[in-house]
Amino acid sequence: PRVAVIVVAAGSGTRLQAGAPKAFVGLDAQTILHHCLRGVFDARSAQVVIVAPEERVGEALADAQDAAGERRDLVSVVAGGRTRQESVAAGLAAVWPDVEIVLVHDAARALAPAALIDRVVAAVERTGWGVVPVLPVVDTIKQVEGETVTAVVDRSQLAAAQTPQGFRRDVLGAAYRVADTEYTDDSALVAAAGHPIATVTGDQRAFKITTPDDLERARSLIGAPRA
Ligand code: CTP
Ligand code: MG
Repeated sequence: PRVAVIVVAAGSGTRLQAGAPKAFVGLDAQTILHHCLRGVFDARSAQVVIVAPEERVGEALADAQDAAGERRDLVSVVAGGRTRQESVAAGLAAVWPDVEIVLVHDAARALAPAALIDRVVAAVERTGWGVVPVLPVVDTIKQVEGETVTAVVDRSQLAAAQTPQGFRRDVLGAAYRVADTEYTDDSALVAAAGHPIATVTGDQRAFKITTPDDLERARSLIGAPRA
């Protein structure tokens, strides 16, 4: 099937506090966006849509073409919106007509490997369902109200969601057309529209760079000798 990956990179990175929109912060000589796109271009896809802050569209295009190498014809860049959901909608509007499967991926998950992306595509192909990569929750989780623990939560029923999340293009498009509130992720938005969601095994390397500590972790991971 023809696959498009929408990479949302239009956030400001307020929690990272790194002096530039998060996707444009350097990990080494290359940006977070560039590292994310390396994984994306190593996976099977027909189109890669990058959603960037309006004033960074040109910079994102140059960075993406550099990361794409021979595959630069696959690259589109569009301006994002005020919320992640608006940014995904902007990316969706730029997906080519013949695309059948759409993945939505956070640029901030800079080290997500190509194998994870291919695994999500394969699961959408196999099931026709929405697909979310998940990892088990390792911490014991408490339900709290103020400073009081109000309930025990069964950790075995919980999973932490990552991206890329994958969908049939018609399903994702229809779900975005009817969405009337902000959802925490695309699989929640698609589920709210009545579509089933399946999981695949996520990857530790697909963690989201959110805080300065996460940035340090990503930097040390790429500096470490390869196994
Ligand atoms: N994103 C986006 N458009 C927005 C908000 C977020 O494209 N209006 C993207 C971010 O660029 C990021 C992904 O959605 O790749 C996940 O969002 P998050 O980690 O929250 O990034 P930011 O919103 O940039 O960070 P913060 O919430 O700390 O400001
Ligand atoms: Mg945010």
